[in-house]
Amino acid sequence: MKVLGIETSCDETAVCLIEGTGSFGPEFTFKILGNALSSQADLHAQYGGVFPNLAKREHGRALVPLLEQVLKEAGMLKSGKTAFNEIRLCELLEREEELLALLLDHFTKHAKPDIDAIAVTYGPGLEPALWVGVNFARALSLFWNVPLVAVNHMEGHILLSMTEKGWLAEHEFPLLALLISGGHTELVVSKEFGSYTVVGQTRDDAAGEAFDKVARMLGLPYPGGPEISKLASEARAKSLQTEEKLTRPMLHDDSFDFSFSGLKTAMRKRVEALSDPSLEDKQKLAREFEDTVADVLVEKTLRAIDRFGINTVVVGGGVSANTYIRSRLAEALAEEGNVAKLLVPPPELATDNALMIALAGYFHALNKEFADNETLSAYGNLKLGEN
Ligand code: KG4
Ligand code: ZN
Repeated sequence: MKVLGIETSCDETAVCLIEGTGSFGPEFTFKILGNALSSQADLHAQYGGVFPNLAKREHGRALVPLLEQVLKEAGMLKSGKTAFNEIRLCELLEREEELLALLLDHFTKHAKPDIDAIAVTYGPGLEPALWVGVNFARALSLFWNVPLVAVNHMEGHILLSMTEKGWLAEHEFPLLALLISGGHTELVVSKEFGSYTVVGQTRDDAAGEAFDKVARMLGLPYPGGPEISKLASEARAKSLQTEEKLTRPMLHDDSFDFSFSGLKTAMRKRVEALSDPSLEDKQKLAREFEDTVADVLVEKTLRAIDRFGINTVVVGGGVSANTYIRSRLAEALAEEGNVAKLLVPPPELATDNALMIALAGYFHALNKEFADNETLSAYGNLKLGEN
């Protein structure tokens, strides 16, 4: 079965075509037939974060060229025509003028490719950005006459971390997902594919958001995660550290919730106390910040493993690209008495992409869990386990 994945929830526009066989288990295999991504990070860097209307416009410009790139890579960009009802297409894309023009042009030049399902992220994320992908997918589904699958972006991160080069990594339920991204910090228990219970989440800022905001305080560009991480590892290499430790937020709280807003304020105070922070000051602060985040993530993960009898821990989301956090989790799980296996994504696929959406879409399509083309909406606050 060939599934096209479409992702536009934040500042990455991405399209991916996979061909999968087998159901969720050891017999599942997949191949990537085409994969393309266009990042808007540089554009948003000047605002220090993602600017929703700019994201929406850029998604509208990028989707058709990325689709054509993917189809070409797959050897499936056929010349010809796709029949469409112009009034209906204009209605569907009335808020996406540039996308409408590009798709009209595509339909007049290219025939329908041989694909079996279209999977699109319908939440969570920035609603104006999500709508572009959703409406694009609805238009393709309608005029290609291919069923539509609505994918929760967070489930995509989980599945991507569970796959290896072309199959599912060895895993055993119950599974704990530690989802750490720009918009989310969650601990999720899953007893089988498609079933999720959020057992802990951030009460304020997400981990990635904290990385981005602290980076901004230190005068570093957006996205801040990799920048902070680089300074922190320089500090470790030179054994530099702050004299006073930061408080580890929520560590003594019984819940599996997180909070990073106080940590951000504490960092701001430290930065402001230094009138003109030197590179060494910044390295020390970045290290202390990263240590703090890692301590909290590791401790809460270990407690959740114990509490929910977890066999496999799956880490996903942009912050899971962080080498230090990965190694701290790996060390903690390698300690005696811990039996849970750790699955992390390849660093280049930790941040948003469309492979993760195509993978999640494949399994839902196998289960015939299709969305209604007429009524599919974007949900900025979509939660795992409630959709
Ligand atoms: O999953 P993602 O691409 O987008 C969302 O769904 O939010 O995550 C983006 C977040 C950003 O906040 C970025 O700073 C963070 O992931 N990030 C990192 C690293 N690489 C990306 N945070 C810490 N260390 C990294 N190496
Ligand atoms: Zn994400």
